[in-house]
Amino acid sequence: MVATVPIIAIDGPSGAGKGTIADMLAQELGWHLLDSGALYRLLALEAQQQGITDPQKHVAELAGLAVSLPIEFKPDSSGHSKACLHGVDVSEAIRNPLISALASRVAAIPEVREGLFQRQRAFLQAPGLVADGRDMGTVVFTDAPLKIFLTASAEERAKRRHKQLKDKGENVSIARLYRDIEERDERDCNRAVAPLRPAEDSIVIDSTDMSIQEVLDKVLSIHYELSASF
Ligand code: C5P
Repeated sequence: MVATVPIIAIDGPSGAGKGTIADMLAQELGWHLLDSGALYRLLALEAQQQGITDPQKHVAELAGLAVSLPIEFKPDSSGHSKACLHGVDVSEAIRNPLISALASRVAAIPEVREGLFQRQRAFLQAPGLVADGRDMGTVVFTDAPLKIFLTASAEERAKRRHKQLKDKGENVSIARLYRDIEERDERDCNRAVAPLRPAEDSIVIDSTDMSIQEVLDKVLSIHYELSASF
């Protein structure tokens, strides 16, 4: 079944540039944006605030929070989305490396993924949706007419993350970022439920040697070509 509201699903490993590309695509097309990683991160932040350090020991609580946690995405003055938890902007706090690691452990719990499923589907509204994550094309939006799997080498992803942090005045070694990326890849790819993998009908783009603009242009040209064929 193909969805009546158009969807571009973008999956791929951490640091491949999915977030940036999804955001730019949504702005360019005037479509809604689902940053599904932010949902897992918000849940991880709540878990941390509640003193939960081992998510596997709190499955029922986390599954309940996945359904009921007061989460909101509000546009800031430049049109970019701010992630709010209990009405407070926590966009910066959810990007903390500790929350990244906890989010990937929370995300390995099947009951949490089930709890977030409908919340993610609810983002599907006219005129269209760009959905970014790990299982957008394989689980949540299997009906998406365009599925992109965006990847890049782990070295390149660590370098990009390093630059991002440096620009914010943070100095973390590339070796440490590389280890974090490998660890998260390992967990995301090998978990029992919704492991990270390209959907069979996805188009794989390796952005290792591409600029953001080149990736954006490529996705847009595939999208326009596909839209013209319907
Ligand atoms: O994309 P982002 O790095 O913000 O996602 C944080 C974590 O949430 C990922 O490492 C992954 O474990 C999890 N995630 C997921 N499924 C998604 C989106 C994110 O499992 N659709």
